[in-house]
This record gives sequence, structure tokens and C-alpha cells, in this order.
Amino acid sequence: MVFVKLFHVFPIVFLFIICISKISKASRAEFVTCGTMLKIMNTDLRLRLHSHDVKYGSGSGQQSITAVDVSDDHNSHWLVRPAMGETCKRGSPIKCNTNIRLQHVATKKNLHSHYFSSPLSGNQEVSAYGDDGGEGDSGDNWTVVCNNDYWRRDTPVKLKHIDTAAYLAGSGRTFGRPISGQGEIVGVTSQYGAYTDWQAMEGLFVHPSDLLPHQAAIHTEL
Ligand SMILES: *[C@@H]1O[C@H](CO)[C@@H](O)[C@H](O)[C@H]1NC(C)=O
Repeated sequence: MVFVKLFHVFPIVFLFIICISKISKASRAEFVTCGTMLKIMNTDLRLRLHSHDVKYGSGSGQQSITAVDVSDDHNSHWLVRPAMGETCKRGSPIKCNTNIRLQHVATKKNLHSHYFSSPLSGNQEVSAYGDDGGEGDSGDNWTVVCNNDYWRRDTPVKLKHIDTAAYLAGSGRTFGRPISGQGEIVGVTSQYGAYTDWQAMEGLFVHPSDLLPHQAAIHTEL
């Protein structure tokens, strides 16, 4: 009985170990790639994009998006996925002006925006949206705006919301209880407005040369 169980578990453990070793090598990659799980930081405010199981008390009432100053919060992890209805090859660098979705890893919801008013500053609300499988709607699509070739890990980018043409930004305003000290995240109309630059930070960067033919399925489990 024990033998049979071990026999079943072994391949999974083995694949997991391969996966971890590939990821540690991948951390040297220069680019943010499709399938990357990362934190992104607003460069002016020094706050990382964040979400959690807390709903807005106003506007859409959907799950709130905030920004936090700590670097080690697991609720600040985002998975880079292709825009809804599009595909991208796992590990391929994200070109400037590519359409993506950012999925909040802990709750499976997507970074989303729409014409609701944000709770503190009255800008456009940014929320987290989607079902348990991570599927939402067109309001989850964002364009990575940068001036060079690819979304580079060492260069800030802007994130432009496709449906409303708003840019992801911090407002500079801070929430009180129950999420005291967290920054408000909003959509703004001008990319030249304050607080619209986002820098890739900590993450698990999938690199093209690290991919094995059967690996796509493994990374999906992350
Ligand atoms: C965004 O999402 C919708 C899903 O409603 C999809 O049909 C569309 O092609 C996506 N892409 C862009 C670039 O808007």
C-alpha cells in the first residue's frame, strides 16, 4: 500500500524539483516574459501593486486593488498572461505594446478597470475581477506601453487599460482602516500624469532557453 502511494507521488515530486531549478536559473533573464509571476512597483511612490479579499465599500463593490510598501507580501504577486482571447508562448519576452492581463495569484482575479469612481480621489476605479478560473471580461485587458523593444526588467513601463484608455497609476492618497496605510490605485487619462511608472521587481521569471518541451504544463500549476 505504502509502496503504491510513493510510486504515484514520485513523478510529481521529481517534476517539481526540475521546475524549481529551472526557475532559479531563469531569474537572470533580462525581460518580463509570458508566464512570469512578479511584483511590480510604482517608481515614484515606491509601493507595490497589491490585492486581497477586501471589497470596495463604494463604486463597483468589487475586490479592491491597493499598493503596499512592504516587499515580502504574497498578496503582491501577479501572473503575466496574454489578453483575453489571445495567446503568448510561455517564456517569450513581452514586446512593447503587447496586450496582456495581470492575474492576482492569491485570489485568481485579474487587474481590471471600468467607469466607476475611485474611493478616495474620485479618479477611475481599478479593481480585481474574474471567476475562480481567472476569466473575467474585456475590462481585464491592458497594453504594456514602453519605448524600446521589450518589457525590460530594469526599465519602468506604463500599463494602459484598453477599454477606457486610462493609465494605471497611484493617486498618492492612502486608505484608513481596515487597510490602513495602503495606497489608492486608479486609472488616469494622461500617461504624463504623476505616478504612472511601474517597475518589475521580485519574481519568478520564465526564460525561453529554460523551457523544456513538456514544461508548459508544469508552470501552469504555479
Ligand atoms: C480583450 O478581451 C475581450 C474579451 O471580452 C476579447 O474579445 C478581446 O479580443 C481582448 N483583446 C483586446 C485587445 O481588447
